Amino acid sequence: MSLSWTGRCPGCGEWNTLVEARRRDSQAGPRRGSERSPAGPSPRPVPLRDVEAPAAGRLLTGIGELDRVLGGGIVPGSLVLLGGPPGIGKSTLTGMAVGNLGAAGRRVLYVSGEESAAQVRLRAERLGEPALAVPALVETSVAAVLATLEAEHPEACVIDSIQTLHSDGMTGTPGSVGQVREAAAAIMEVAKPLGIAVILVGHVTKDGTVAGPRVLEHLVDCVLLFEGERERSFRTLRALKNRFGATSEVGVFEMRSGGLVEVADPSARFVGEASDAAGSCVLCAMEGSRPLLVEVQALVAPTEIVPPRRVATGIDRNRLAMVIAVLARHGGPSLASADVFANLAGGVRVDEPGADLAVALALASAHRGEPLGATGKPLACFGEVGLTGELRFVPHPERRVAEALKFGLGPVLAPRAGERVEGLAPVPTLADALRRCRAGSRLRRAA
Ligand code: TYD
Ligand code: MG
Repeated sequence: MSLSWTGRCPGCGEWNTLVEARRRDSQAGPRRGSERSPAGPSPRPVPLRDVEAPAAGRLLTGIGELDRVLGGGIVPGSLVLLGGPPGIGKSTLTGMAVGNLGAAGRRVLYVSGEESAAQVRLRAERLGEPALAVPALVETSVAAVLATLEAEHPEACVIDSIQTLHSDGMTGTPGSVGQVREAAAAIMEVAKPLGIAVILVGHVTKDGTVAGPRVLEHLVDCVLLFEGERERSFRTLRALKNRFGATSEVGVFEMRSGGLVEVADPSARFVGEASDAAGSCVLCAMEGSRPLLVEVQALVAPTEIVPPRRVATGIDRNRLAMVIAVLARHGGPSLASADVFANLAGGVRVDEPGADLAVALALASAHRGEPLGATGKPLACFGEVGLTGELRFVPHPERRVAEALKFGLGPVLAPRAGERVEGLAPVPTLADALRRCRAGSRLRRAA
């Protein structure tokens, strides 16, 4: 904290990171000394079993994937932050959700600070009758929004977006850290006691650099991140934080002309597109509690550029670098003078070490120019690659293998599981996996 304007933060040395926050009068209350000895009797802690917990049911948005990621629908009175890059479909998703809630007889409200009423209507027209019936308010003043919440008392309300709201009591432009925090806190203060569930929409740029809505993460009950590539039709919705459910669930959507469509069986979509070409391999990933098959594609191209390029889409760049290094050291090709591109098809992102083996095998296959599978079908695999070239156990091998077998992809190359898993071909090291694939290629050529 600094009491005067300062260009450079004395704490971290960064420029322009300090934001002005005015203390509200109500907060300028008692001094520290007097906080120690409250006047009346001290408040009594209550055993948790005696605390009254409202048994109110959750608000089901009717969008299965959204409800699942929320942990079974929206908790009444909760505060949800839906973040994502511009154009990903946040307004579409929230518009559909309140449309469905309204159609189910719930009182809803849609506040837009970003678009004109006509623009909101045009979107609703694409989404259909339920979305058109939603009461909408075009407003950017926090005070006006609060007054409407109190007057209308909806059960669920969408604020699109939190960055467009401004509070008169605060300095700073709308979207600044101070404004965003103040506006969200003011909304929470009004909505919580009234039991209004609020979905705050917030823009987050792809690399998460704009601090804006992320400063709200500790304040809200649930943070959902909606991502994907705008050019691709697939989008994933995941929970980064959820006070009322697991954070590992992931929903998959596809943007169509009539709004977002849930992709209930994403594996089928991704495997359908997978080929048995050189440099391609099917990864048995876990997205939360659900197994997901995705195609890993790799391209290795000789280059004169130093350092060569390493481009990762959908997987972690550092893990790609690690896999390249382990390959060179433990039985795989050296890619020191090659550009390397590794891709998860369909615009999905997988954030687990279980993807390593698939990336390694796809790279080796791309380098040799030979497909991995012996049978003309894509090879399926999963497993973490350790720095010493060993393959390490990753959770839920049986579910991953079962998903691959469902699509006729087996046996699945993977590290040894705790117990025997039907359809899993255990390989202890990366070198073993590479040998097995080379043997498969030989078989295929012989056939
Ligand atoms: P939008 O929900 O406005 O994104 P955000 O609020 O995250 O910025 O929608 C993004 C894109 O989706 C927009 O370019 C148009 C497209 N879209 C469709 O393809 N089909 C539809 O039915 C709708 C409503 C939008
Ligand atoms: Mg929008």
